[in-house]
Amino acid sequence: MLDFEQIREQFPLLKRQVNGKPLVYFDNAATAQKPQIVLDVIEKYYQTYNANIHRGVHRLSQEATDAYEVSRRKIQKHFNAKDAKEIIFTRGTTESINLVANGFAQLLDKGDEVIISELEHHSNIVPWQLACEQSGAILRVIPINDKGEIVLEAFYQILSNKTKVVAVSHVSNTLGTINPIKHIIEKAHQVGAAVLIDGAQATAHLKVDVQELDCDFYCTSAHKMFGPTGIGMLYGKEAWLRKLPPYQGGGEMIKEVTFTKTTYADIPFKFEAGTPNIVGGIAFGTAIDFINEIGLQAIASYENELLAYATDKLREIPNLSIIGTAADKAAVVSFVIANIHPFDVGSIIDKLGVAVRTGHHCTQPIMQHFKIPGTIRASFAFYNTQKEIDMFIESLKKSVQMLA
Ligand code: ALA
Repeated sequence: MLDFEQIREQFPLLKRQVNGKPLVYFDNAATAQKPQIVLDVIEKYYQTYNANIHRGVHRLSQEATDAYEVSRRKIQKHFNAKDAKEIIFTRGTTESINLVANGFAQLLDKGDEVIISELEHHSNIVPWQLACEQSGAILRVIPINDKGEIVLEAFYQILSNKTKVVAVSHVSNTLGTINPIKHIIEKAHQVGAAVLIDGAQATAHLKVDVQELDCDFYCTSAHKMFGPTGIGMLYGKEAWLRKLPPYQGGGEMIKEVTFTKTTYADIPFKFEAGTPNIVGGIAFGTAIDFINEIGLQAIASYENELLAYATDKLREIPNLSIIGTAADKAAVVSFVIANIHPFDVGSIIDKLGVAVRTGHHCTQPIMQHFKIPGTIRASFAFYNTQKEIDMFIESLKKSVQMLA
């Protein structure tokens, strides 16, 4: 059994107080806190080898380039991609999805179809709407049931030879539902569609093996994995990355530029125009090392205990309804309390030191499905404890007393 109390000690921010109370940080689905080792790597980069990469012959540039490329290989290994060139550094999941959707806007024809689900974050909806508007393709949506699960029967019905892309989340940011992505990928491949998986909410909790899944694209953000903001990755199968046109033009992504014709660099650089978030890329690798030292299996089983404990305690509060009761869930619990606005609860428990997210969580279609304005969402990480859940429940009870 791992000592999660000791692991928690490595996160300096968790020691702070908010409004004179010990911080209870339950907004990990929005962004996770950073361990000291990640903070140290960032400081060391700027203090000792800050330089631009892939450009200089000088020593600092070589050190920075090596560290950046070592990190790319760590990411490749962690997600079990076949080759490091299948890992593109991006600003995060949103940019990864935009990169792919923007490419497909040029590959799709009028009448082609793109399938997403009702569970998606806006960042896995809007880029596909834009791609469909530009290409004349049609956007189809797999509905969810009242537990917040994708209705597979409905997916089979809309899947056809016209389907060119299926883009779904691995884990719902709002409800925590873990989608049966392996099955969805298999089915989509039977009609020859490419599959993009939005893994933003999965990779801090679950082991992902892109070859085993056989997805065509997989994206995530470092900041949800205890790394810095402004950096993420797109995995793409080599054949697809060769087929997709570049996303942005600029330095780094070219082979040769003349005023009549530009040829592009090989993958992954074809998709990495401009000076990237160098230290972010390096620290992303450190965050992955940190997660692997703990082990995703241990993380998942500990977080499942937290989720079960929190769910049981929440059910004891009168007039509280949990939104999202899928059979398979990651460490997220969303709920509403009758006749009380989520924002009011969030504001009061903040005064008591508890950080949660309230609102639509960038998933307005889920709110429309459940006919609610928003939810209160608690999302856990391995550094959270049952004691914090008790404090959270106490703060909720106080807020209900004040607001009822
Ligand atoms: N997508 C992030 C969340 O769910 C920001 O909070």
